[in-house]
Formats: sequence, structure tokens, C-alpha cells
Amino acid sequence: MLKYIPAFLVINMPSSTVIKAFFREFFVKQTALRETEPDLVMDDPEKVDAYSRAGREDGVMAPVYLFHCAQICEVIKPGDTVLDLGCGPATQLAMVARLNQNTNFIGMDLSDEMLSRARKYTTEQNLKNMEFQQGDITRLAGISDQSIDAVMSTVVLHHLPDLDALECTFSEIKRILKPGGGIYLVDFGHLKSEQSIRDFAYQYADRQAELFTLDYLYSLRAAFWPNDFKELYQKHLAGAGKFYKTLAMPYMMAIKSPARRELDPDLRNQFKAMVKSMPDFHQTDLKDLMLFFRLGGLKTNYL
Ligand SMILES: C[S@@+](CC[C@H](N)C(=O)[O-])C[C@H]1O[C@@H](n2cnc3c(N)ncnc32)[C@H](O)[C@@H]1O
Repeated sequence: MLKYIPAFLVINMPSSTVIKAFFREFFVKQTALRETEPDLVMDDPEKVDAYSRAGREDGVMAPVYLFHCAQICEVIKPGDTVLDLGCGPATQLAMVARLNQNTNFIGMDLSDEMLSRARKYTTEQNLKNMEFQQGDITRLAGISDQSIDAVMSTVVLHHLPDLDALECTFSEIKRILKPGGGIYLVDFGHLKSEQSIRDFAYQYADRQAELFTLDYLYSLRAAFWPNDFKELYQKHLAGAGKFYKTLAMPYMMAIKSPARRELDPDLRNQFKAMVKSMPDFHQTDLKDLMLFFRLGGLKTNYL
């Protein structure tokens, strides 16, 4: 695999931040440390606002949401009940729910402020296939054993204070998921060097609110180490999904179950149209993420 990397990089030409971080992370010794998020639960209205705006169609996170949406569409089916752990303002959840109107979704978050944004946003979008619950993802109180068809979670787990909390979350997912259920859990992975972390966080500082840049910086510093994440996944969820990370530079890592439905050609066309309507710099980001995850073994047939 490693011998193909230079060819992949030349053909796909990632952004310069990504190329620099790739080589740095490849050769550098680990210097960065995990630092817990200053806001474990996101309740500050100004920060929630900055976060919500960064995720909307013209926001810097739009390509990342599109990538995860394509992955999630493969592991959920019509008729499913899908639980979104740490749904935040429901930008990701709404995107998935819009494309899967015959699937029911439960968005869970601990933050009142996030849940009220989520309700407002999904009402504006006229989405009827979802409900919201205030709850702690490390406990999943009120959710019965083997009652959920699929679990999704995007960029949430680094908000947990420590590995014990991560372990509780994985064990709870195992408890509530039906046998053969779908899983897509994705989060930032910890990079070895603080310089790479800063380069990623400040890459689009001129296009986004300063609060969002800082939020991103703190998130990358709070990311779990891929080996810790993988070890706990293997302990609790090994049979249910596979662990992936972006190659050589694990800035994202995911657990994904096998696809649970046939490829839907209409859905694929909708994804093509969404990619086409993105500005060039979003398409570059999407290509980068697709490339580094593909090199790490994670693909999607929708993109
Ligand atoms: C970075 S946001 C991600 C939101 C959404 N998943 C997305 O992709 O945009 C992380 C969310 O996790 C929530 N959160 C953090 N710890 C939590 C916990 N223990 N239980 C439930 N939600 C939690 C925060 O309040 C916040 O809304």
C-alpha cells in the first residue's frame, strides 16, 4: 500500500496544509498531549451559534458533513430507528434525514441550547421523521436493550472527559443496538504534532468565526489517540463494525458496520448534484477526506 501513496498524492493533489501535515505526521515523534475540551457539553449560545453557522450549506464543515452523510446512508435502511449520539444543532442529522424520509431518527444531546437549535432547524426544514431527547451518551438512560436499528455519531466522542467515559459509551451502544444493526461513529483522531493541529485548525480562519476556529483547535487537542479508541472499540463493538482511520495522519477515525442495503441510484444522483453545487474549495476538502480515508480502507459508493 505505502508504495502507492506518492502516486495517489500526485493524481489527487490534496491541499498544501494536508500535504505538509501528512509528511510531518509521518516522520515526527509524538509531542502533542490530549487536553480535555474546555466545554464538554456545548451550552454557550455564542459558541453554539458559531458552530451551527460553520455547518450550514456554505459553512466550512459542509464537505465533511456530506462525506459522513454518504457513509451513514449505507448503514441505515427505510423503517429503521436511528439514534444520533450528540446531535448538536442537527445539521448532520437533518442532511441524513432529508435523504431518508422513511427512516426515523432520534437526536440526543445533553445541551439545551443545542437541542433548541436542532428543533428550530429541523422544523424550518419541515422534517417530520425525527424527535429529540436530552440525554447523556455515556448512559443512554431510557433506551431499552436491542431497541435501535442503527447508531450514528459525528465529531462528538472527543467531548468525553476520559477513556472511561468512551468505554461506557461503546458499551451502551452495544447494549441498545439490535443484532446486525448499523453503526457509523466518526471523530477526530489525535495528531502527533501540535503544529499539525494548529495548521488544520487555522486552515480556514479567514472564512469562519474566530470562536469556531478555537472550537476546532480545542477539539483536535481533545481527540482520543487512535490506539486507545481502537482498543475500546475492539473490546465492545468488534463484531458490529470495523475501525478505520485516515492514512498516516489520523486526523479522523471511524467505526463503520457493513452496508445494510443495496446502493440506491436516486440517492447517488442526489449526492452527485450536491457535490457539483459546492464551491471549489469545498470540493477540494471533500476530495482530501475521501482520499485519506480511502487510503485507510474506508470508502463509500455514494461519492
Ligand atoms: C462538536 S458537537 C457535534 C454535533 C453534531 N454531531 C455535528 O456533527 O455537528 C458535539 C456535541 O456533543 C454534545 N455532547 C458532549 N458530551 C455529551 C454527552 N455526554 N452526552 C450527550 N451529548 C454530549 C455537545 O453538547 C455537542 O452538541
